[in-house]
Amino acid sequence: MSTSKPLPSLLLVGAGKMGMAMFEGWLADGLAPSVAVRPSPLDLPAPHRHLASLAELGGFRPQVVVIAVKPQKAAQVLPELAPIVQSSGALVISVMAGIDTASLDRALGGGVSCIRAMPNTPAAIGRGVSLAYAPLGLGDDVRRGPRALATRLLAACGDVVWLEEEAQMDPATAISGCGPAYVFLLAELLEAAAVAHGLPAPIARQLARRTISGSGGLLDLRSTDAAELRRAVTSPNGVTERALAVLMQPRAWPAAIDAAIDAAARRSAELADELSRALAAPSPRRVTRDE
Ligand SMILES: NC(=O)c1ccc[n+]([C@@H]2O[C@H](COP(=O)([O-])OP(=O)(O)OC[C@H]3O[C@@H](n4cnc5c(N)ncnc54)[C@H](OP(=O)(O)O)[C@@H]3O)[C@@H](O)[C@H]2O)c1
Repeated sequence: MSTSKPLPSLLLVGAGKMGMAMFEGWLADGLAPSVAVRPSPLDLPAPHRHLASLAELGGFRPQVVVIAVKPQKAAQVLPELAPIVQSSGALVISVMAGIDTASLDRALGGGVSCIRAMPNTPAAIGRGVSLAYAPLGLGDDVRRGPRALATRLLAACGDVVWLEEEAQMDPATAISGCGPAYVFLLAELLEAAAVAHGLPAPIARQLARRTISGSGGLLDLRSTDAAELRRAVTSPNGVTERALAVLMQPRAWPAAIDAAIDAAARRSAELADELSRALAAPSPRRVTRDE
């Protein structure tokens, strides 16, 4: 248990995989009485509460609202959240892929302090990396104010990287937000190839997983460039060199990775447009702080 000041009261909207990975980190850090919302059941230690919907919130006024529903749910959830955010003046941190801060602010009634963040699933073991972006109005000092609070909350997931421009969120999401899926796909493919080449399934599984986690550990613990670590495995005219000659053909991995990142970044950018269209009619009502 941390000895630092407890985290402020939070409202987590969307207590799924990512939301709960963060919530568990905050619990360990010490958290003022907070609420997590999701339709399905959830056990939380007192004094924290689970609610099935925002309609049950009553008089609870959080200091921070963390939005971790799927982006496709944003058009439903944000109008319900608007009066809560407006009346509490809470800082809003959204981890929804693609939804930009201007769209968030608009959907929440305007004049809201919004931070956009993008953690990744190694957050579940505190070894993730979160991208974060705050519009200029929230100041540029990461040591105090909203940015410092967001850094502390996101630190439950691992490293926090602040981006200067919101446009950088889309390509950065394609690397670190989506990235674990690329690595897990590699594990699947290595395991399948091992089985196809006659290795027993449990050995194939162990070799694929341990090779990836061990290589990740090397990247984590050594400051050596990835290219140098790769060269250290690659003897001239050796076994690895033959494999890399296949993978590194321009039309193989270099082209595939480039096309994948491009597709993911474009999809991230599209999600904000989809939210704008979903909210277009009727346009969200502007809510005053007294409501
Ligand atoms: N997973 C990742 O790697 C990752 C990485 C970075 C960012 N994100 C972002 O994190 C967000 C959540 O992703 P996830 O993977 O955690 O998805 P998830 O596991 O499906 O979590 C979404 C949660 O939202 C809940 N929910 C649905 N409708 C709701 C409503 N009206 N009010 C409150 N809660 C509601 C769902 O409840 P039920 O369980 O009851 O259906 C579920 O618990 C997404 O926006 C995604 O872009 C995810």
